[in-house]
Amino acid sequence: MPTPNTAAMDFLLTRRSRPAKTLVAPAPDRATLETLLTAAARTPDHGKLEPWRFIVLEGAALTRMAEATEQAGVRLGKDADAIAKAKSTWRDSPLCVAVIEVQKPSDKVPPVEQTYSAGAVCLALLNAALASGWGANWLSGWASHDRGFVTEALSLAENESVAGFMHLGTERSAPPDRPRPDLDQITTWVDA
Ligand SMILES: Cc1cc2nc3c(=O)[nH]c(=O)nc-3n(C[C@H](O)[C@H](O)[C@H](O)COP(=O)(O)O)c2cc1C
Repeated sequence: MPTPNTAAMDFLLTRRSRPAKTLVAPAPDRATLETLLTAAARTPDHGKLEPWRFIVLEGAALTRMAEATEQAGVRLGKDADAIAKAKSTWRDSPLCVAVIEVQKPSDKVPPVEQTYSAGAVCLALLNAALASGWGANWLSGWASHDRGFVTEALSLAENESVAGFMHLGTERSAPPDRPRPDLDQITTWVDA
């Protein structure tokens, strides 16, 4: 029989995001964050393309993101409530790591596999933060899919997009669990 890592399995079977709006300072410091990012970068990556990178947003950068979100919202014709909600996510965030998908040219690895890997980096960062006792939440938001916003606010290149905005901080309270998938509905067992 294999030797289980019971603590790791207990974590995976009970892990739960903490809503960004409930997160407060302090956020992980730079040394702590480097450990979390190291764990996140230890992610399956077909062809060793490293089709992702990190942008750590803190302090005045979060205020700048809030302002850029407002400008994007006005330009996109979003209503005032949607703009205010998106703005407050940035203004109130203790720290955010933008996980950037970087599409690399490859004859072997199709673009969708690079997208999967970038998503896996997001989950790895989320789990590393939660396992370290930080509150963490993976958000996107309408602005993250807007080319103008990501070019202006994050200086992303044409081959880059936002895989996730990972908000990290100290949790005030743990949320109740949410309904989880019915395994029978999503699993097919095939033995012939
Ligand atoms: C790619 C992606 C983008 C998301 N964007 C948002 C978002 O913009 N706003 C939101 O309220 N939740 C968003 N969520 C959902 C939150 O991350 C939510 O906290 C999560 O589903 C909770 O999962 P957990 O309880 O298993 O940790 C997103 C999830 C993913 C995977």
